[in-house]
Amino acid sequence: MSKILVTGAVGQIGTELVQALRKMYGRDSVIAAGHTAKPTKEFRDSGPFAYLNVADREQIAKIVVDNQIVTVYHMASILSAVGEMNPQLCYEVNTGGLYNVLEIARKHKLEGVIAASSIAAFGAGVPRDNVPNDAVLLPSTMYGVTKVCGELMGQYYFHKYGVDFRCVRLPGVVSTETMPGGGTTDYSVEMYYAAVQGRHYTCFVREDTVLPMMYIPDTVKALIDLACAQNSRLTRRVYNAHSMSFSAGDLAQSIRRVIPKFTCGYEPDYRQKIADSWPRSLDDSLARQDWGWKPMFGLSEMTEDMIEKLRRKLAK
Ligand SMILES: NC(=O)c1ccc[n+]([C@@H]2O[C@H](COP(=O)([O-])OP(=O)(O)OC[C@H]3O[C@@H](n4cnc5c(N)ncnc54)[C@H](O)[C@@H]3O)[C@@H](O)[C@H]2O)c1
Repeated sequence: MSKILVTGAVGQIGTELVQALRKMYGRDSVIAAGHTAKPTKEFRDSGPFAYLNVADREQIAKIVVDNQIVTVYHMASILSAVGEMNPQLCYEVNTGGLYNVLEIARKHKLEGVIAASSIAAFGAGVPRDNVPNDAVLLPSTMYGVTKVCGELMGQYYFHKYGVDFRCVRLPGVVSTETMPGGGTTDYSVEMYYAAVQGRHYTCFVREDTVLPMMYIPDTVKALIDLACAQNSRLTRRVYNAHSMSFSAGDLAQSIRRVIPKFTCGYEPDYRQKIADSWPRSLDDSLARQDWGWKPMFGLSEMTEDMIEKLRRKLAK
């Protein structure tokens, strides 16, 4: 039976991606690999789990060989805000980790590597709205630099060695299961938690800061849909995927429609500069055309679903 390895499996996206893949392919077909983040008991019990540092190529090789892995969903990463605090670690994990995965894929002739890039790959020199797929990539953060490097490495391995590398440029991801891991869009998730817990929230970006965002069911769908797409239909190895764009103030307003008492203040910190360097929206027409990308959630649908799920989760 073909097997899948998910790196960074205990992270914000990995936790929900693993569950979706296990539903599709069976619990034992998906090896969840975590690093420093501790998996919950429920997560450990949901299927096979391994500890893996993606900076260690031998460790990846051992898991791949021992488990007859054919596809890797590579989610292990240091995110933007943490990356600006520790650019050296960000470079080693993001660039070194993907390089190791690609090398293993080449050596062991894996069927595919699915990776996540980010809106952080863009920077100066592109319009901030409706940024096209093939835009100039001049990021100003180390995180963005590693994402551009990862995209280019993946494309190189595809052209040079035929490694089937596929990658989605994701916007900020909003989810209930796992807290975000130190990115610039974390305020969106934190705002929902504060509202459901009846707390005031102080947002670390300005009220008028508009960024592209995506709800986790759509994120998981984007990664799996691209992985499952017919190779002959793909005109790119890296795709923009857009879902919705809103300001921090729009988000607070959307939450207040469900929780009228919610209050939010704004005290921008160092992350404002990062947010200001990112696009407000992406042109994802190529993803729509090549592999049928279509998100399911808009802001109001996401808010209703998030609040309902968080209420249930926090009541436990
Ligand atoms: N969450 C977002 O808003 C967002 C947006 C755009 C792109 N992405 C990308 O999606 C992917 C998944 O991100 P996420 O949000 O789940 O991040 P996350 O921080 O929640 O999870 C990443 C995981 O990687 C693990 N990790 C760190 N160093 C490691 C190492 N040396 N070896 C193995 N694992 C290591 C961490 O323990 C963590 O569990 C990343 O490539 C990220 O850049 C995320």
